[in-house]
Amino acid sequence: MVPLKVAALIFYILSSFLTTSKSVDEFSYNGFRSANLSLDGMAKITPNGLLKLNNATILEKGHAFFPDPIEVKNSINASASSFSAYFVFAMVSGYQELGGQGIIFVLSPSKNFERANPALYFGLFNQTNSGNSSNHIFGVELDTLKNIEVEDIDDNHVGIDINGLKSISSKSSGYWDNTDLFRNLTLNSGHPTQLWVEYDGIEKQISVTLAPLHNSKPNRTLLQISYDLSSVLKPTMFVGFSSATGPIQIATHYVLGWSFKINGMAQPLDLSRLPKLPRTGPKKISKVLTVYMPVIVVVSVTLAIWGVVCYVNRRRKFAEVLEEWERDYSPQRFKFKDLYKATKGFKDKEILGRGGFGKVYKGVMPRSKVEIAVKRVSHESRQGMREFVAEIASMGRLRHRNLVPLLGYCRRKSELLLVYEYMSNGSLDKFLDNQPKEMKECGGSSLSAFAVNLEFRNFASDFQCPIYWSNLWLHIQICLVL
Ligand SMILES: *[C@@H]1O[C@H](CO)[C@@H](O)[C@H](O)[C@H]1NC(C)=O
Ligand SMILES: *[C@@H]1O[C@H](CO)[C@@H](O)[C@H](O)[C@H]1NC(C)=O
Ligand SMILES: *[C@@H]1O[C@H](CO)[C@@H](O)[C@H](O)[C@H]1NC(C)=O
Ligand SMILES: *[C@@H]1O[C@H](CO)[C@@H](O)[C@H](O)[C@H]1NC(C)=O
Ligand SMILES: *[C@@H]1O[C@H](CO)[C@@H](O)[C@H](O)[C@H]1NC(C)=O
Ligand SMILES: *[C@@H]1O[C@H](CO)[C@@H](O)[C@H](O)[C@H]1NC(C)=O
Ligand SMILES: *[C@@H]1O[C@H](CO)[C@@H](O)[C@H](O)[C@H]1NC(C)=O
Repeated sequence: MVPLKVAALIFYILSSFLTTSKSVDEFSYNGFRSANLSLDGMAKITPNGLLKLNNATILEKGHAFFPDPIEVKNSINASASSFSAYFVFAMVSGYQELGGQGIIFVLSPSKNFERANPALYFGLFNQTNSGNSSNHIFGVELDTLKNIEVEDIDDNHVGIDINGLKSISSKSSGYWDNTDLFRNLTLNSGHPTQLWVEYDGIEKQISVTLAPLHNSKPNRTLLQISYDLSSVLKPTMFVGFSSATGPIQIATHYVLGWSFKINGMAQPLDLSRLPKLPRTGPKKISKVLTVYMPVIVVVSVTLAIWGVVCYVNRRRKFAEVLEEWERDYSPQRFKFKDLYKATKGFKDKEILGRGGFGKVYKGVMPRSKVEIAVKRVSHESRQGMREFVAEIASMGRLRHRNLVPLLGYCRRKSELLLVYEYMSNGSLDKFLDNQPKEMKECGGSSLSAFAVNLEFRNFASDFQCPIYWSNLWLHIQICLVL
């Protein structure tokens, strides 16, 4: 007896479970990532959860349906139940004026539309069955093409369709805002838009309401008609979307989220959880590419060239000639850059004198603030340069009251710079007046003497002191002979 009771109980539980799970009367999708929809044709779910109803293939169809049939009729008196659908869609077109066909939200007794045609038939009907009451199809179209064949009012409208595409009621897309002003909405603007489709089974009223994404549901509907769907709907129907492409297809149609309920208000969607639309934009990108990119490229190339030119100029301006053998003379070596700074760029104002061998500039060393005189001597050949530099270097070590102390040198291409301690004109005169007496001291190698002689002669001539110079020259020549 007991096992029989248990069996009956199990049967009861199972049967009640089976009957309640037989028909779903409510669902909600905040994005379709894990949704188990029945898709065909071009329709697919993108990796981020968008329901994409079409692609750029022309004259093609795409359908997306909730997989299970839904009971839409009261089983006792066979009248159509109230239902409510709410979804967020977007029609993304690169060019505002051109779209494709559009989207149609549909209640259909079948999910099979193999014999239906694309283009103006929206993938739901064909030329023989459009308008035939045996179709049992209820739909709300979002149409972005004006098809004269089906008496479309314009190329941006919402229509209620029963069994065919000649809408029984349609209006230009728009909504009533909370100040009771009618505002136009462009369906293929690329912006997500909310749509509510409601059927009141008691009042026998169909209403359609549109609004931009973050607006609350307007109090006034866009379309409202009295119509009894009891004769249109079958006891169970499939709920979903159909989309088709025409001979030209530019817009892509997406559904971002969708909820549906029999005998009640469809659940609101969590707008923050809806998947993001792909970044489009031939338009945006093209603006960036055509306006900003060339400017950025031109500016950066110009800056780069300018930088390179500056760098090369600077390198050339301060370029020196430094050979391996000169490493030994590095203490006597001056940087051209420092001399350039010291003489304020070899300004004419800094010229102390001119001579056959070159100009002499006054300068102040940038760091040490030591006053110097710099002579620029042009030289063409490298011959004897090594010996000459050696002599200059050794001269730097010579200290003689009769000699203007040579501090060092610098070499550039076809130019030699000799750096002396600076002596004011007065002290030079004094210096030149005290004619050398101990001539022997300038001895050593004759070459050294020659260098001293040469440099001294140059220096003196640079200061244009020919009278004193001739005296000196005589003495030095004596020294040379010795
Ligand atoms: C469009 O979708 C269909 C079906 O998924 C696919 O076969 C076709 O290659 C797609 N076309 C383009 C251009 O993406
Ligand atoms: C998806 O729905 C179909 C049709 O109802 C069903 O056969 C299939 O098992 C479902 N798949 C998943 C993963 O739920
Ligand atoms: C059908 O029955 C439901 C409740 O069972 C009721 O709400 C509805 O008004 C009835 N429709 C008609 C046409 O009698
Ligand atoms: C139109 O569609 C109906 C229903 O699917 C089908 O029976 C009929 O053969 C189709 N007509 C043409 C011309 O394809
Ligand atoms: C409507 O379709 C049915 C079945 O496909 C067909 O028998 C009937 O003739 C069609 N009616 C019209 C007016 O085309
Ligand atoms: C709807 O009407 C209520 C009360 O009349 C008002 O407070 C609300 O702002 C209206 N909402 C919209 C979106 O128009
Ligand atoms: C709104 O759309 C209608 C119909 O397309 C048009 O006549 C009207 O000028 C539009 N209004 C605005 C403000 O754009």
